[in-house]
Order: sequence, then structure tokens, then C-alpha cells
Amino acid sequence: MFETLQNFWMPVLPVSELGESPVSVTLAGEKLVLFRTQSGEIRALRDRCSHRSVALSLGRVTPNGCLECPYHGWQFNGDGACVHVPFNDVNKINLFRLAVSSFPTQIIAGCVWIFTGEGKPPALQIPDSLKLSETAYYIHQEIWKTHWTRAIEANLDFVHLPFVHRESFGQIAQSALESGDVLDFKVEDSSDRIEVFTPYANVPPTFALEWQQPNLVMVKFDELGFPVKREHFFAVPIDEHQTQCTIILQMAEGMDAQTQQSAAQEFIKPLVEDRVVVESQIGEIPAMAEECHVPTDKPTLLFRRWYHQTIAHQLVLR
Ligand code: FES
Ligand SMILES: [Fe+2]
Repeated sequence: MFETLQNFWMPVLPVSELGESPVSVTLAGEKLVLFRTQSGEIRALRDRCSHRSVALSLGRVTPNGCLECPYHGWQFNGDGACVHVPFNDVNKINLFRLAVSSFPTQIIAGCVWIFTGEGKPPALQIPDSLKLSETAYYIHQEIWKTHWTRAIEANLDFVHLPFVHRESFGQIAQSALESGDVLDFKVEDSSDRIEVFTPYANVPPTFALEWQQPNLVMVKFDELGFPVKREHFFAVPIDEHQTQCTIILQMAEGMDAQTQQSAAQEFIKPLVEDRVVVESQIGEIPAMAEECHVPTDKPTLLFRRWYHQTIAHQLVLR
């Protein structure tokens, strides 16, 4: 299961979007259903009834907090155990064999997170900027028709700013471009993170991009005094061809809801500029020899090395 990206925690849905009805999500190639149990806890099951493979997300949540299949009414609890089979004597059925798979969930930064694996998951490693109360965040989701690795690279790249974002914030790179500067990045990396500091002299040197394993890129402008303090961009694979971009913005304190909404929208607008370009790329990031590279590609090449060694197990050329 979860062929595209196994054994990681992923943010999949803003908590506010899960009400009384079940919601289906596709994560790393698997169809899942999210629902709330009687106590309000959010649980994730495989979205496929063990009886005749109907999508459980088309069903309803019963008053006792079970998910009822829309076809013949079998009921499943939050652990995926089948607890009711209408019109049958349950003493003559091995209910244990009728269970559907369940997956660990947790709520962080106003999002439901699911672990893309079975068995006991490891503790979730997240930056402190995602540990604040829910009200500190504005969450935006949009689907890009691309492999998740391409979406990561677009966010770990300072060089595209004066081209892709010419009409928006890319202006910050214009003078360096016009002067013919050779960009020199300060890059810090370890096995599970890469931090790239701005190469542009006209923005404070603390402005940085940071990738954290496997699919988070933070845009760190905490000290620039913007209404958005930090952007957390998660490239969450729906499957091999589509990515659910989940953006969790940490907003500055003291804004009312309306000001927060319009400030967040301003930050989200340029995403469409990235999407158009990224959707023209084909497939996942390829083996190293299949594309050409230059010194300013250093951050994305570090990401490729991690991806090829850890996820894709492809040949890595150095
Ligand atoms: S298909 Fe689900 S109960 Fe029959
Ligand atoms: Fe961009």
C-alpha cells in the first residue's frame, strides 16, 4: 500500500472540512475514508468495504459513531472492525475476518495527518512553527497535475523567481539578474534537511528555504515583518501524477479573521505561476543523467540525491 510514499506522516485535510459525513481522500495511491467517531475522534479507514468493495465514504456515520456501508449496511468502528452485519446471525459469522484496514491519524496545525503505513508509526517530526494553536494558521489546498517531487523542487529554488514570478514577488531578484550576478548560495544540509539562504543582496540574509524529509518546504521570512510569518508547503502525493499541495501559513499575531484572510490570499496568489510551469514537466524527477545541471541547482540536486537513495532507489551519479 501507499506505493508513492510509504511510512511517513502526511497532512491530508483541514479539520474544519470534516463534519458529520465521511470524507474520501486519496493519499499516495490509496483511497481512504475519514470520519468522526461518537467521541469526535477522527479515524481513517481504507475506503473499500470488505464485502463487495463499495466506497465506504458513500455511506453514513451511525449514531453510535460507526461507519455504515451504503450497500448492505455493514458497520465498521474507528479501528476498522466490523461490528454489525444486518439480516445475519453474528454468532455464525467470524466478524474478525470482515475488518477493513485502519490507519493512524493525528491533528496538528489544524490539519488531519495520516500515516502512510501499517503497524505502529514513528513519532512525527515537525518544526516548532507547526506546534502552535490552530488559530495561528491559514490552510490552503490545491491540486497540481504533477509528481510530488517536482512540486518540492519548485519550492526549493531561488533562481526561478525573476522568471516564473516576474509579475509578482520575483521583482526582488530583478536587480541581481540585470547586473549579471553569479549567484552564490549558502546551503546547509544533513541527511533529512536542506536549508538554502537567499542569494539576493536586497533581502535580509535570514530569508531562507528549508526542505525537511520527505515533502515539506518552509519559506522562512519570519523576521521580515510580513503578515505571513512562515509558509509550510507540503507536496502530498495523491498518486504518481497528482499532488495535493497543502499550504499551512503561520500568520502574524493580532490580525482579525478578515485581515488574515486577505493577507493569506495575497501570498497564495503566485502559486498559480508555479503550477503552470511545473505541470509542463513530465513524470517524477528522473535519474541524474537524464537532465542537465549547473552550480545553482545545488539545493535541488541534494534533494534528488536523498530521493533517489531513500525513495526511488535509482542509480545516483555524483
Ligand atoms: S458492499 Fe458493503 S455491506 Fe455489502
Ligand atoms: Fe515559485
